[in-house]
Amino acid sequence: MQATQIEVNQIRKDFPILLRRINGKPLVYFDNAATTQKPSSVITSISEYYTTYNANIHRAVYQIAEEATNAFETTRDKVSSFINAHSREEIIFTRNTTESINLVAYSWGRKNVGRGDTIILSELEHHSNIVPWQILCQERGAQIKYLTIDQDGNLDLSELESCTSNNNVKLISLSHMSNAIGNIIPIKYIVKIAHSFGIPIFVDGAQSVPHLKTDVTDIDCDFLAFSGHKMLGPTGVGVLYAKKKILEEMNPFIGGGDMIKEVHKYETSYNDLPHKFEGGTPNIADVIGFGKALDYLNKIGIENIRRHEIELTKYALEEMSNLKNIQLYGSPDPYQRGGIISFNLGDIHPHDLATILNEEAIAIRSGHHCAQVLMEKLEVPATSRASFYIYNTIEEINIFINALHKAMRLFRL
Ligand code: ALA
Repeated sequence: MQATQIEVNQIRKDFPILLRRINGKPLVYFDNAATTQKPSSVITSISEYYTTYNANIHRAVYQIAEEATNAFETTRDKVSSFINAHSREEIIFTRNTTESINLVAYSWGRKNVGRGDTIILSELEHHSNIVPWQILCQERGAQIKYLTIDQDGNLDLSELESCTSNNNVKLISLSHMSNAIGNIIPIKYIVKIAHSFGIPIFVDGAQSVPHLKTDVTDIDCDFLAFSGHKMLGPTGVGVLYAKKKILEEMNPFIGGGDMIKEVHKYETSYNDLPHKFEGGTPNIADVIGFGKALDYLNKIGIENIRRHEIELTKYALEEMSNLKNIQLYGSPDPYQRGGIISFNLGDIHPHDLATILNEEAIAIRSGHHCAQVLMEKLEVPATSRASFYIYNTIEEINIFINALHKAMRLFRL
């Protein structure tokens, strides 16, 4: 199936929110890097669970509890095959990407990182892939080093070998696609270099997994984190993938119900994978909803989603680069970036621009995008950011460009 314009119009019918009007105008939703909209199948599946088989999972033998357990565990199978994991035991449900990173920083980090050790990040990272490592390093007397980027936001790969050949490097943790400027890094190449020095790699896939074919067996990364809500699923469901051997050696993150085998007064044995890392009642309804989101993405095909987003990004970049006084950030090559365009228009503050666009019913994000290290590098406090997904159209980009013209007139640019 090709994601042509006609099919996008079909797809749009599955998203009730796209009928919404703001200020009498149809909603143009360009904040997909923050969260995506949800198709009816996802919304319905959540209310179906609460209406017809609401029960806790992994605990009871009555029918609706079994139905709930099966539906929850079926999502795990779907996630495992979506990213081509080696086994379903490697899929841990968390609340979001942030929690997945914190889980590893806590459980793996406290066991493997000590005084004098180094963790390598890049200047592209989201705060979620900086702060947990800072907390760990401060506690353990370790340090963080950053791979730098050039003015187009591309990683300086020449630094990679010199950084990784240092014996004290314990982990490299990188975002596959920048949430703030959209750049995609050559993750498979980086994993190969890291592994040649025996260093494990954590991939922050929050922005990449919803938009790029992700095959963890092929990439060979050691950890991967992503969030369901950025890929048509509900909020409150994240995934941590890690190689089974690593998970087996890690201590639990949250102690409590479901993550144990036996508890005695002074000692506990832990449950098998993946349950060892899923203490307490999980977000059952939303995990089930996430399974429906994966069905929807599989039906469209991730390659078609990528193709559609390249088309939108190419068009938007061409049109935007014709605007006077525009500063575009990130790679100029639409094949080297996702459907995320960060920019500044003259000296209009991004929040003012976002307010003007809101009058036209266009939703974009403005601010530092939880990437202040990157903003410092770009020497700006904030940018405006438009980000696309499968239901966005060329017509919507035209509406957006017209709104930018309107803002320029208002500010006499
Ligand atoms: N990480 C999300 C974003 O980039 C919230 O907007």
